[in-house]
Amino acid sequence: MFRISACVALLGLAALAGCSGGGTSAKSGAITVGFSQVGAESEWRTANTRSVKEALVEPEFQLKFSDGQQKQENQIKALRSFIAQRVDVIAFSPVVETGWDTVLAEAKAAGIPVVLTDRTVHVPDESLFVTLIGSDFVEEGRRAARWLIDASKDMKGPIRVVELQGTVGSAPANDRMKGFREVIDQDSRFQVVRSQTGEFTRAKGKEVMEAFLKAEGRNKIDVLFAHNDDMAIGAIQAIEEAGMKPGKDILVIGVDGVKGAFEAMIAGKMNVTVECNPLLGPQLMAAAGKAAAGETLPRWIKSIERVFPAEVAAEELPRRKY
Ligand code: AHR
Repeated sequence: MFRISACVALLGLAALAGCSGGGTSAKSGAITVGFSQVGAESEWRTANTRSVKEALVEPEFQLKFSDGQQKQENQIKALRSFIAQRVDVIAFSPVVETGWDTVLAEAKAAGIPVVLTDRTVHVPDESLFVTLIGSDFVEEGRRAARWLIDASKDMKGPIRVVELQGTVGSAPANDRMKGFREVIDQDSRFQVVRSQTGEFTRAKGKEVMEAFLKAEGRNKIDVLFAHNDDMAIGAIQAIEEAGMKPGKDILVIGVDGVKGAFEAMIAGKMNVTVECNPLLGPQLMAAAGKAAAGETLPRWIKSIERVFPAEVAAEELPRRKY
């Protein structure tokens, strides 16, 4: 049985304000959530951190936030420290998919429910986490490929594609690659000629794109599929520095839907972004309350997302929240 925070045990989130206002001291009634973040690699991640910090606030919650700086060992240490502190709920966005079995079993043995946010884990025992809040990354990869097939319907093959992968071993890198291939492999015009990690950062995206351009030579790359917008934006710089026009000489596809991508599309340098919603704080707040109360949650609380091609960028930008 999971431990139940005293104030929250019998009440839904809606009743929380009443609980803390009814004489229980804010701190003693608060649900303590230990949150281990991946790092601060992208515009998406910054928005995600902000959303979590804005949602899990006192008096209902006490947030213990830890930045894993892209290292699994840091995240494991943070999780163990949360267990030692006997938090009510552990939430985390795992940098990679594998290698969590032991620490998650320790959390389970301590009776602390684990909520995954953003990224999933591969574990033999599904009961090691109570829910996943986040996107369908495979579908995001498929959406990118479907957009490409549609946008290139008048192009003759071979259409030479380069791919900037996210963090090696991470769920979004594995799944976006899978979904993208699944769809373009059905169209014999497409060839993925280079595929390498750009670690989800602008700097690395630029560096790897420079290497792609050097290796392939001018006019040999038709399409860039970047697993996130930050890498696409870095690559755009590399394409321009090579004397080519991103968005025209090379079609540029990104994922996330951050403001930077909308600005690049308005400038005519990027063609599309597939949305991946980082604003998971409110859903985490609701799930943490329920998990602390021992309620059963859906296995996957899936984000609802769209595709934004350059044609709609100017109209959409003022509405973007991240
Ligand atoms: O896990 C979500 C991914 O991680 C986002 O697409 C990317 O920008 C981030 O770093």
